[in-house]
This record gives sequence, structure tokens and C-alpha cells, in this order.
Amino acid sequence: MIQTAKYPIHLGRGVIDRTGALVKARGRVFVVTSHALRERFADRVAASFDPVAEVITIEEGESRKTLATANEIVTQLLDRGAKRDATLVAVGGGMIGDTAGFAAAIFLRGISLVHVPTTLLAQVDSSIGGKVAVNHARGKNLIGAFHPPKAVIIDPSVLHSLPERELASGLFEALKAGVIADPELFEIFPQSPNSQPPTPNLETIIERAIRVKVNIVDADEREADLRRLLNYGHTIAHGIENAMNYEGITHGEAVAWGMIGANAIAVRRGLLPRETSDRIERSIRALEPRRVPATIDAHAILAATEHDKKNTGTARVMVLPTRIGHCDIVSDVTEEEIAYGIDAALA
Ligand SMILES: NC(=O)c1ccc[n+]([C@@H]2O[C@H](COP(=O)([O-])OP(=O)(O)OC[C@H]3O[C@@H](n4cnc5c(N)ncnc54)[C@H](O)[C@@H]3O)[C@@H](O)[C@H]2O)c1
Ligand SMILES: [Zn+2]
Repeated sequence: MIQTAKYPIHLGRGVIDRTGALVKARGRVFVVTSHALRERFADRVAASFDPVAEVITIEEGESRKTLATANEIVTQLLDRGAKRDATLVAVGGGMIGDTAGFAAAIFLRGISLVHVPTTLLAQVDSSIGGKVAVNHARGKNLIGAFHPPKAVIIDPSVLHSLPERELASGLFEALKAGVIADPELFEIFPQSPNSQPPTPNLETIIERAIRVKVNIVDADEREADLRRLLNYGHTIAHGIENAMNYEGITHGEAVAWGMIGANAIAVRRGLLPRETSDRIERSIRALEPRRVPATIDAHAILAATEHDKKNTGTARVMVLPTRIGHCDIVSDVTEEEIAYGIDAALA
């Protein structure tokens, strides 16, 4: 178990079937999941509660991460007579966790939330830190709240059925955590595609990546803006995802190219030795991220980085690594530098 400032993270094979015992809910329990994940995981989570929890299913997909879907969950909770002491358990990837988590944040001004993340990305990133959100037509995650869970239940054995590409998506976020704050975590990742894949070390990767995020999120309560570190690779990634309409690329793949772009800027500024940048790039490429299609041009990506809600005014904030395990938060990045980084990411 990892104890954060606010809630425990139960990590281990088999914990998913012990959710009920680990959570100790007071009122009624509602499990929110998708049709696809219901039988495989959600029914098991529901059965771990006494009495057995009720299951609510929603449609999946990033395009469904909306107020309308959150409202559907609220309607279901009202139909079933949920009260303020109810607990909502989100079983699924980041889409389910964010949408169900947001519903838990607003239903009757907030009910208890438990995350049972079933993708690697959700296990190492989206279920940790207390942020929940849905998308608006104008952009991603524009409607949200801070609603820390009561507990997070992370069972690495659920990842067996996860498609290879979704697994890689989470691995890029874990690799990011290594570059930000944990050189030993970074070392687990191979430097060439033919060497042993990191999956035998998956549990170690998950635990170390969680610790990086937990340490940053906990410290951020005292030292504002530390949380920005988690955005390494994300300025250009958001530009790529936005320019591609969030289709044809996973979030992790976009972050992979975004890290390569950020590194190029850091090298040009003299912040990062080229050989370190090359090392990081070899580890990223060893996981074979799908390339940004040639039809997406650099200008569209640059224009889309402007929408990054983390930018204030004209000053562009970026996280640039200085060595493996340390990044600087740089607030005077020019548009020309970002264009240079995008070119490096697409090269
Ligand atoms: N709240 C945060 O701090 C935060 C941080 C990062 C990302 N996010 C959000 O997370 C979302 C992306 O999450 P994601 O990458 O988990 O994608 P996702 O939730 O869309 O899931 C991807 C696919 O994997 C399937 N799946 C899930 N678990 C499975 C399993 N064990 N076996 C087989 N298939 C499985 C799902 O059915 C889905 O089709 C985005 O909306 C992003 O904005 C939030
Ligand atoms: Zn991310």
C-alpha cells in the first residue's frame, strides 16, 4: 500500500476482488463502468461488497467524456435512490475514471469516490491526484473539479487483456515520470526495440511511477506549481492531439513525441546534454510510438498548442529536462522555440 496525504493506494495482484473489504463503504455502493469492462472486472468489484453493489454502465470513448454522460450517471443514481452517503466506484480507464469521478464530485455536492483503474495509463496517472473532468466542445477537460478519491485500487493483473498499444500509452507516461524524478525507473526501460520489453518489470514500473506522481501532487499542496512538472512532454502533445482531433494517436504516443520535442528545445538552450537527450529518445523509440501522419502539418500543431490552458498570456511555460531525474519549469519559451521542438518531434 502507498499512503498519500489524503487516501491509500492499494497495489497488488488480486486486490480488485478485495475492493469491498479495503474500502469499507458506509452507504450504498454504485459501480460505474462500460459494457465492455462489466463482466471482466466491474461485476467482480461489485461482488466484493456486502451487499453486492449495483452496476451502472455507460458508453465509452473520448467523445463520450461529456457533461451529458456525467448527467446520465447522476440520473441513474437518482433513479436508484442514491443518498449523500453513497459511494461511487469507477472501474475502467481514464475516460471512465474522469467522467464517473466528475459525476461523484457534483452529485448532491459530492459523494465518496473509489478508483479501480484498468488501463496502465489510468493506474500510473489519471486515477492519482484527485483531478476529475469532462470535455467541452471547445476543448478537453474544461469542465472539472478536484475530488480526491477515498481509495485507489490498483491490480496489475487486469492489464493482461489490455491491447499492446494501450499498454505502450501508459508506458510513455511512466517513462515520463522517470525523466522527471526517478532515474532508476528510467533505467528499467530498454534502449533498443529488440531488447527485453519492460513488461516483466511492470509492477515495479507501476509502483515507481505512482510514487513519482504522489510525491509531486502531495508536495504541490505546499509548493504551488510543482504539479506543472507532470506536464513534461505535454505542451507539444496537446498540440498534436488537438491537431489530430484526438483520433489516430493515443495520449501516451503524443506525449512520446512531445518529450522528444521538449528535449530538442532543452538541448538548444544548453540545459540538457545532447547525449542525455539521445538516451531518452532511444528509450522512447524502443517502445515504437506510432508516428504523427505526414498529413498533419507543423503549423496546425503549433496553432493548437496555443489552446493549452496552462499558458498564461503570451509567456509559454514548458517543462525542460536538465538530466534524467530532474526537469526545470521554464516560463519564457518563445513560439519560435516551440516550432523548433515540433519540427524535432516530427523529424
Ligand atoms: N484526471 C487526470 O489527472 C488524468 C490524467 C491523464 C489522463 N486523463 C484522461 O484519461 C483519459 C485516457 O484514459 P485511458 O488511456 O485509460 O483510455 P480509455 O479510458 O479511453 O481506455 C482505453 C480503452 O481501453 C479499454 N480497456 C480499459 N481497461 C482494459 C483492460 N483491462 N483490458 C482491455 N481493455 C481495456 C477501454 O475499454 C477503452 O476502449 C483521457 O480522457 C485523459 O484526459 C486524466
Ligand atoms: Zn498525460
